[in-house]
Amino acid sequence: TETTLQFEVEANASPVPASEREARIADPGFGRVFTDHMAMVRWSRDKGWHAAKIAPRKAIEMDPASSVLHYAQEIFEGMKAYRLADGSTALFRPEQNARRFQKSAERMAMPQLPEKLFLESIEKLTEIDRDWIPTAEGGALYLRPFMFASEVFLGVRPAHEYLYLVIASSVGAYFQGGAKAISIWVSDDYTRAAPGGTGAAKCGGNYAASLVAQSQAIEKGCDQVVFLDAAEHRWVEELGGMNLFFVMDDGSMVTPPLKGTILPGITRDSILTLARDEGIAVREEPYAIDQWRADAESGRLRETFACGTAAVVTPVGTVRSSKGDFTIGAGGTGQLTQRLRDRLVGIQRGEHDDTHGWVKRL
Ligand code: COI
Repeated sequence: TETTLQFEVEANASPVPASEREARIADPGFGRVFTDHMAMVRWSRDKGWHAAKIAPRKAIEMDPASSVLHYAQEIFEGMKAYRLADGSTALFRPEQNARRFQKSAERMAMPQLPEKLFLESIEKLTEIDRDWIPTAEGGALYLRPFMFASEVFLGVRPAHEYLYLVIASSVGAYFQGGAKAISIWVSDDYTRAAPGGTGAAKCGGNYAASLVAQSQAIEKGCDQVVFLDAAEHRWVEELGGMNLFFVMDDGSMVTPPLKGTILPGITRDSILTLARDEGIAVREEPYAIDQWRADAESGRLRETFACGTAAVVTPVGTVRSSKGDFTIGAGGTGQLTQRLRDRLVGIQRGEHDDTHGWVKRL
């Protein structure tokens, strides 16, 4: 049964040679450099979870009628493994990813992977591929657990077979400019999530739906798109793959509340905790686009930043929309943005006290 399911480990007999690996991870960018192994677990209605293994990373054969290719029953996670100053390897709040993965599965009518299997898949893959963690500052091993409907069937219903995989990618900064302030485009043509929809689930479809709006943002000369709520087109929700925080001139912060249309970011949750540790008043409440503009113009708003596993904490410098542009603060990195980023990264890298027990050393 799944409580006793063990990972079979098959080491890659022809891994990438060390010199080539070092060359690839020297300046990896984001999501292009992959490691020697992957984790895999299967699920079927008859057998439940089975066939857990760590194996050489390779292409997977798929029948063209695999139902994920038609109806997009797919979910994923994003998390990082870090090399600490003492040379050891650590994960950041991995049990949070395990739980969110279960919630996403529930929303998409998929089987829930037991937390223990999720954590073992991550830990074993990280251990076997630990030499792929970049040594350069800001480098990490980005772990991508995902699961999809692998049943060969075209009927529209929850599949009876699934494949869970974890791949790992050596990464640097998500944005080419590193931690420089980004510009964002307010989408008025498209929304990301509606009440009762899948906005709070980490499913591939949410990201597919964001792409046309993201392309418009690029056309407008911006780095990212920001979505407004679907019902009123009034409330600021999030970017295509990052949550938002607003810093006011009285030192307080605002972030949109988790009401089902926003992805419950683990970085978002960590920032909330770190800010409250510092005595900062953080309100989880709706923030209107018109208010954002008015506050930026009056100076009541000091800073805005986006956060996520991939992007860490990234300042927002300018906001563009069909109603005109506005700049936040001096358009660069705000003080609190920088401090919270340093604090979070310091904890993740084992340089600051881990008072909340977030860092899991392997
Ligand atoms: C993350 O891992 O931060 C994501 O949300 C996925 C994507 C934006 C790279």
